[in-house]
Formats: sequence, C-alpha cells, structure tokens
Amino acid sequence: MPPSFEEYRKFFPVTKTGTYLNHAAISPISTPVVEAINSALSGRSAGDIDTFQMMLDNKSKLKNNISRLIHTNPANIAIIGNTSEGFNWLVNGLSWQKGDRILLVKDEFPSNVYPFLNLKSQGVEIDFVPTRRGMIYFDDIEKCITSRTRLLSISFVEFFSGFRNDLEKIGQLCESKDILFSVDGIQGLGAIPMDVSAAKIDFLSNGGHKWLMSPMGCGFMYVRPELRENLKPAFAGWLSVKDSWNFTDYNLDFLDDSRRFEIGTPNFLGIVGAQAATKLLVKAGPENIFPHILSLGDQLIDNLEKIGMRYQGSQEKAHRSGIYTFKADRVEELFNYLKNNQVHTALRLDAVRISPHFYNQSEEIARVIDLCKDFYHN
Ligand SMILES: Cc1ncc(COP(=O)(O)O)c(C=O)c1O
Repeated sequence: MPPSFEEYRKFFPVTKTGTYLNHAAISPISTPVVEAINSALSGRSAGDIDTFQMMLDNKSKLKNNISRLIHTNPANIAIIGNTSEGFNWLVNGLSWQKGDRILLVKDEFPSNVYPFLNLKSQGVEIDFVPTRRGMIYFDDIEKCITSRTRLLSISFVEFFSGFRNDLEKIGQLCESKDILFSVDGIQGLGAIPMDVSAAKIDFLSNGGHKWLMSPMGCGFMYVRPELRENLKPAFAGWLSVKDSWNFTDYNLDFLDDSRRFEIGTPNFLGIVGAQAATKLLVKAGPENIFPHILSLGDQLIDNLEKIGMRYQGSQEKAHRSGIYTFKADRVEELFNYLKNNQVHTALRLDAVRISPHFYNQSEEIARVIDLCKDFYHN
C-alpha cells in the first residue's frame, strides 16, 4: 500500500477550499513556507534588517535539501531564478564551432529550446527528435545523433503528455557517444526520485514553483564537477569570486564550486521559502511520494477512459509521472465545469491536464471522476 500522507494535509489550506490538481503548472505554497517567508520579512522590516548572513545560511540549507533530492554534493548546485536561466548559463559557457549540433526534442516546453536556438547565429545546428503521440522512443534519439552532436537536452518529464524519459538509459547513451547530457527537471523533481550520478547527467536546470512547491523565481542548476572545469562562467559578479568581501581588490578568481555561477544578491525570500518547501519534500521522501502519485494516476486512467476520455500518456508504467492528460469532447467546457466545482486542473492545447501531488488523496480523485461522469451524463 502506498503511503497516504494524511498528516501533511494540514500544511495545505487549499485542501479546505477545493481540490487542487494543477502542480504541473504551479503548486500551492504550504504553511511552513508561508511562516518561513513571513518571519524573514519581519526580520527585514523591524528586526535586524541586515539579515544577509541568515539568508546565506538558508541558501546552504536549501542546497543541502536539493542535494538530497538529486543525490549529489551541495557544492555542485547553484541557486538561480528559473529553468531558462540555467540553460543560458550552459550554452553561453561552452565554446562552439560552426557545424556543431545540438539535439533537442519536438514538442518540449520552450525553455528547453530557445536558449539553444540562440546559438544558431554562431553556426550551431539544432536537430529535433520526433515524438510519437507525445512519446519519445529511445531508438529515435539514437538515430538522431550525428558525429557532430555535442549536446542533448531533454525534459525529465514532458509537460503535455507526462511522458517520463528514462534518464539512466539516455545518460548511458550520451556518455558512450561523448555527448553532454542536459536535463530540464522541473516537471519531475519533487514528485519522482532522481539520481544525477546514476543517470550521468552533466547539467540539470530546474525552476522551483511546480513540483518543488517553492516560490516563483527561485530554482537551481546542477553542474557535474567534470563539466564545471570546462564551463566558463558566462557572467561574473562580486559573489562569484573567492574574496567577495574584499570589495576593491578586483581579483577575478572564481570560487571553485558552483557558487561561481551565483553572481550577486539573490532572491533571498524565494530561497527562504524554497528551503522550507524542499525540507518538507525531503521528509516525505520522493521514494514514498512517487508510488502514491502513480496510484492516483492509475485511478484517473482506469476510470476516465471508461467514460470515453482519452489518456495521452504512455501505456507503460516505466514512462509515467505526475502528469495525466486527457483529450475529450467539449474539453474547454469540461475544464470550466471542474473549475466551477472547485477542482483545479489545466487546459493545455485540446486536453485537460491533471497533476496530483503527494498530499492529494484517492477521495479527491474519486470526486474528479464523479464530476466528469456527471458532465458526460454517464
Ligand atoms: C518542462 C518545463 N520546463 C520549464 C518550464 C518553466 O520554465 P522557467 O522555469 O524558465 O519559467 C515549464 C513550465 O512552465 C515546463 O513545463
């Protein structure tokens, strides 16, 4: 039996006013996060005011939490604003030759596309792995690799279909072909266990406001130590150097660890919130969270398909995630009907996307199913 996480529901007041099933867009902020941010704000308003050191301590704690979620050393993590920013650090820190090729995937969210397209002016060519009904076949990835492919960037979980890529298998392939392996983790991490070393990931970029349940504008990137040696910091700032507090020395000697990619005063309130949010997730444990989410997903698929809604994800459990997308007749009306009944999902393209997190319960899923049945008069 997967755990029920009943005891965590008290941290999510949203459970009292409705059924929130839209974590693939944005997560509700839990009460420990609200309390942590309020306390930091009070300190900035009428406490010590200069809370810089306290905030730095929070940044270290946040990195510790993240390191436990992705299984790496905190020194390999840099705190950044969002997923897009991370990929920009990557593409602008590498040197490119005319004719180098980058492999991306069709139908990915654009944050994992535009930073790479921006290299076209340097003569870099972009290839796209085709998708088949939202699924990505390993053989297709393999076929798209050329002798000039230098980097592959892919999502842990695809934002529309919820297809979960087999990172370990793809990482193995990239290593065997000497290709850099870059991952957008935002639609998986927090809901699904991840091990960056086992998957041989060179670079991971991850915004915080979806499955990590953190404030907006506070994410992180992981840079594998071997890559860090070759990734020139595309930007430099006073906090990225060794002697930060020696203000007028101007010794541009970058810190050895990933703090070299943190250039100035960061989003400290975001960090305080993300620290509290990831602490909760570490405690709940992705290895417990994921089976619970998968069982909610099974419940959705089994019941909604029976009333003619068409599941858009993989038939294979190994490729499932926290995202369950269904095409259906009058889908926009259905989405509004659910919303009017305080069930929050997302309308994406011509489908309704349902994305439960760990505090959601089987009874809530049953309610969604009942509402869908009512809507279609089943
Ligand atoms: C796969 C994926 N990557 C990234 C993002 C967000 O990118 P950013 O963190 O740059 O806003 C989203 C959704 O908003 C997404 O679905």
